[in-house]
Amino acid sequence: MLNEKLHSYIEGLIPERNSLFTEMEKYANEHHVPIMELAGIETMLQLLRIHGSKKILEVGTAIGYSALRMAEALPEAEVVTIERDLERIQTAKEFIQRSGKGGQIIFIEGDALEVENNVQAHGPFDAIFIDAAKGQYKKFFELYAKCLKADGLIVTDNVLFKGLVAEDEIESKRTRNLVKKIADFNKWLMNHSEYHTVILPVGDGIAISIKKR
Ligand SMILES: C[S@@+](CC[C@H](N)C(=O)[O-])C[C@H]1O[C@@H](n2cnc3c(N)ncnc32)[C@H](O)[C@@H]1O
Repeated sequence: MLNEKLHSYIEGLIPERNSLFTEMEKYANEHHVPIMELAGIETMLQLLRIHGSKKILEVGTAIGYSALRMAEALPEAEVVTIERDLERIQTAKEFIQRSGKGGQIIFIEGDALEVENNVQAHGPFDAIFIDAAKGQYKKFFELYAKCLKADGLIVTDNVLFKGLVAEDEIESKRTRNLVKKIADFNKWLMNHSEYHTVILPVGDGIAISIKKR
């Protein structure tokens, strides 16, 4: 990961978001909702702009921050987003309603591993953003990669998990198990016969995968 000084320098250069996004960032911070890190989301938005994604699937809405950032960055895009936590669904709905961008967002409520049929009806997708339970990344990837267009891309967040994937010793058993799952996913993804993948050390680490031709 970048050293702290450089990291703060880059984050300091990122322009202020609008007042609703600033409020959402504050809300996430105060309520301990894990939204995507700033440098990570800016990188992903830039990739989506370059790619010209028009139909995006997001696994893990939380309070709707990244879904709305994508909708704003790509005014022609439609974002289908899945969330299972009832309180977060309610909060996300309120923010989405206030944003005036509800027309670009399709909200699917439920466990991402159980709503495949509903999601499929909205596909295929130009881009898929995986940002839900870290221990299940492989399942999300395998399930929804089927809905990706031939020239689509998949962005997976938190693949470096605060740098812990490169640590030899982790004290907490729970964290150790989770880190192992992420490390196994990374190895599996990097060696996937059907995808080219790179891991970028921005934010919490993002993997960018595209289908091999
Ligand atoms: C890291 S947060 C998403 C942050 C959001 N993408 C952002 O950057 O604004 C992960 C969210 O995924 C949800 N989640 C985890 N596993 C899920 C599953 N199997 N199905 C649906 N939602 C899930 C959690 O409830 C949580 O709100």
